Amino acid sequence: MKNKNLVSINDYTRDEQIQILDLAEEFEKQPSQRILEGYVVASLFFEPSTRTRLSFESAACHLGAKVIGFSEPGSSSLKKGESLRDTILMVSNYADIIVMRHPREGSARFASEVATIPLINAGDGANQHPTQTLLDMYSIRKTQGSLDNLNVAFVGDLKYGRTVHSLAIALSNYNTTFHLVSPPELKMPSSVKKYIKDSNLSYYQYTDLQEVISKVDILYMTRIQKERFSDPIEYERVKNSYVLRNNMLKDARPNMRILHPLPRVNEIAVDVDENPKAYYFTQALNGVFVRQALLASILGVK
Ligand code: CP
Repeated sequence: MKNKNLVSINDYTRDEQIQILDLAEEFEKQPSQRILEGYVVASLFFEPSTRTRLSFESAACHLGAKVIGFSEPGSSSLKKGESLRDTILMVSNYADIIVMRHPREGSARFASEVATIPLINAGDGANQHPTQTLLDMYSIRKTQGSLDNLNVAFVGDLKYGRTVHSLAIALSNYNTTFHLVSPPELKMPSSVKKYIKDSNLSYYQYTDLQEVISKVDILYMTRIQKERFSDPIEYERVKNSYVLRNNMLKDARPNMRILHPLPRVNEIAVDVDENPKAYYFTQALNGVFVRQALLASILGVK
């Protein structure tokens, strides 16, 4: 994976994805290894983030790398009108690898073509979030023992939710049966459903959350993302579509685990947090190990 950009989850083969998960297991056992001393990671966040930015920066620190960058594009020369192209060209002079989040779909691919150093997409608009996908796969494999033959439900904003787009594509390698729960306005895009079909797999669509709970191994909740709606009235109509409560989990399979990329707003009630099936906070912790694996692999030290 040395110098290999990660913009879309399919930039890495199934075998390469598994290599990252296996390496992440090593970092989970021994997180502090000074193997990236002397390296500089540029962390460019043009859109808000807590988990992705801080877990990448934590991963870099645990490995001995230095981190430069910004979490607020208003503090960079973009504010003066500098283009994304020029920004990326400049940062390529200052760092060994770029981690970038940007609100525009396709911006990460564009930036990777301009950059003279490797680039990791930390989320581009409603398009892709491949590092989230890898930590989701890590979390699924860890909790279920395997990625194969699982029933997975995606719930909430399947239209704009970049995490579910990337994860559905990745899980199409593993004989997954997909259960897609959303309001009619926020269904999974046809392109992703076609990808599932072309992989000879099945998906089922629902509007009722309770209907899927007893059928699945993974219940992947997502937030209805206010920032993706151009029409505030449409957001108001769907914002409270799903709220998972503890009393809804009575018929869940013993092995079932609840994942969520976070942040949550109200789609998982806090009474679920104490349920042993709630895995979302550990899922976010797994992000550090997976991002250590990505930095070490792309920089060629593992
Ligand atoms: N899961 C995720 O991308 O969270 P942040 O927006 O906080 O980075």
